[in-house]
Amino acid sequence: MSDILTHTDGGVTTLTFNRLDKKNSITSAMYAALADAIEAAAADPAVRCVLIQGHETVFSAGNDIADFLNHPPAGQDSPVFRFLRGIAQFPKPLLAAACGPAVGIGTTLLFHCDLVYAGDNAAFSMPFVNLGLCPEAASSLLVPQMLGYHRAAEALLLGEPFMAEAALEVGLVNRVLPPTEANSYAQGVARKLAAKPLASLVETKRLMKKGQTTLVMDTIAEEGASFGRMLREPAAREAFGAFMERRKPDFSNL
Ligand code: COA
Repeated sequence: MSDILTHTDGGVTTLTFNRLDKKNSITSAMYAALADAIEAAAADPAVRCVLIQGHETVFSAGNDIADFLNHPPAGQDSPVFRFLRGIAQFPKPLLAAACGPAVGIGTTLLFHCDLVYAGDNAAFSMPFVNLGLCPEAASSLLVPQMLGYHRAAEALLLGEPFMAEAALEVGLVNRVLPPTEANSYAQGVARKLAAKPLASLVETKRLMKKGQTTLVMDTIAEEGASFGRMLREPAAREAFGAFMERRKPDFSNL
């Protein structure tokens, strides 16, 4: 069974993280599958929107740490950047349903979605600093914009998680639901969108996003260059080594 399930029906493409034994952490092969599916959905006139979902117990633990160490993203054509560009420029409505932990890109991808539904067990976190890294997916721009600077500093400098209700309060999620209902509720909303005229959906989204797109793409590129460099530096090596060895990282000399 594939780690990314892709299913199109009734004008909705549903992409499901399907790697539960590793908490839906994302390998470069999974990024490639996601990027291909997003590109295909953008080009296919029969697809009117895309829904990204996980399992009711976990959305995604973010980048697969072992895969990241073994195959660090090599430049802007790497699968992770293709995926980021794909969601940042996706012309049709993009939805997500997130339950349980949503770590790193599991949270930052949500800032590119038009509608987000969360299980009441959702825990969002962007622990890039704790991993010796820096924000990605334009989160250094989009998180302060949505949360306000000081709450963004808690999320990005301290790396503190925030729960579904807090995400609802700041506007990151549209509705909080029982975890068993989040995916099906989001699917219902996607079906509603799929019944609307595609040209109106696309034009409305373009008009809402137009002032921001270039800045978002430039930010993704700038963060990506820093992230790639920092991935090879001692702090990230220590943090990732500590995760693999199930110990606390020691940054005292870094
Ligand atoms: N990369 C690779 N493997 C991961 C992973 C990740 N990001 N997150 C979890 N896993 C693996 C664990 O190594 C473990 O594998 P094992 O059973 O072979 O030992 C399995 O998934 C279960 O993880 P575990 O930590 O035992 O689950 P949990 O329910 O206690 O905690 C999380 C879930 C998501 C809170 C926790 O796994 C976590 O914090 N993961 C790391 C998140 C992270 O730092 N991501 C990187 C962002 S850039």
